[in-house]
Amino acid sequence: MTRKIDIFDTTLRDGEQSPGASMNTEEKLVIAQELLRMHVDVIEAGFPISSPGDFRSVQEIGRMAGDDAVVVGLTRAVDKDIDRAAEALKTAKRPRIHTGLGVSPQHLREKLRITEDECVERAIHCVKYAKQYVDDVEFYAEDAGRADQKFLERVIQAVVNAGATVVNIPDTTGYQMPDDFGRRIKGLADNVIGIENVKISVHTHNDLGMATALALAGVKNGARQVECTINGLGERAGNTALEEVVMAIRMHGDELDAHTDVVTTELTRASHLVSSITGMQVQANKAIVGANAFAHSSGIHQDGVLKARDTYEIIDPADVGAAGSEIVLSARSGHAALKHRLAELGYTFSDKEYDEIYQRFLEVADQKKEVYDEDLESIVQERQRSVTS
Ligand code: KIV
Ligand code: ZN
Repeated sequence: MTRKIDIFDTTLRDGEQSPGASMNTEEKLVIAQELLRMHVDVIEAGFPISSPGDFRSVQEIGRMAGDDAVVVGLTRAVDKDIDRAAEALKTAKRPRIHTGLGVSPQHLREKLRITEDECVERAIHCVKYAKQYVDDVEFYAEDAGRADQKFLERVIQAVVNAGATVVNIPDTTGYQMPDDFGRRIKGLADNVIGIENVKISVHTHNDLGMATALALAGVKNGARQVECTINGLGERAGNTALEEVVMAIRMHGDELDAHTDVVTTELTRASHLVSSITGMQVQANKAIVGANAFAHSSGIHQDGVLKARDTYEIIDPADVGAAGSEIVLSARSGHAALKHRLAELGYTFSDKEYDEIYQRFLEVADQKKEVYDEDLESIVQERQRSVTS
């Protein structure tokens, strides 16, 4: 049996930090319902001290989730944040406080203006302070991707000793390369005493387009939780996309020694829901859930897919809840695709007739991005008129 990887969804917290994507409590509840249907393990419901609305979202999602998921409230390493999160999480059966602070030279020097020793002290304090309220405390080492490795190991050792149950290693700025990030996780897994009793989590951002690769490198090297968002929503270039991580783990589970419990047939529905609620459109060529993820436009690919789907598709669209493979007719399409579509519309022709229709089809296709069924009907009718006149 492969290792179970927890899927920690942060669409409602980090995803919502995406400019223009803010959601009200009712909208968050609708998405949380879908996350529960998908069987994610952990839902980060909000940042309770940030606004009364976020406080209420954490309360309501805690109530809704019951035993089905861990519900998380984010805090800074600040007592009043932790008090507020603990208050909001009172409704949750499985509450978790997610607290932490920056650990990179940039964050220590320029943002927090504290020394390394002060950082370690604050890390220990916030974990112990949160532990008064809940057993399950996750510590985040913000900007761990740019931190000195020895210092990162020192901080993580301190919070493990203080009772953290999960240690989150974020590449906050999406700066790392996958191999380096993997080594970073392995360094923690090898060198922090007692880490085997604690879950290592990875939380990666997409500034260099590598968030998914980073998360998977983390999993390969010992992480047992991945933090991600639907459609990769999130600050700047976004977070790791949940649908990508889940499907990559599903397809490469043996080599990663990993599996998740996510119901993959819900992925497309979840993507559409988040897109319609936030108004953030999903790019057509987005992996797994984009409108073109299972669409084929060139003649060579169409010919292959019509003979056997797996010639150009590694995922069965049904496995992610998508409508199905799509053959798009365009000027790049060949005879096979045209014949296939005409047959679906109920037309069969001799080879000679097809050749004539195909020539006319190409003329139309050169004028348009896509040739629709109405265009095909016109081509066929036009041809029938010319034959009978
Ligand atoms: O990217 C990040 O470091 C975060 C933390 C607050 C977990 O979102
Ligand atoms: Zn983040």
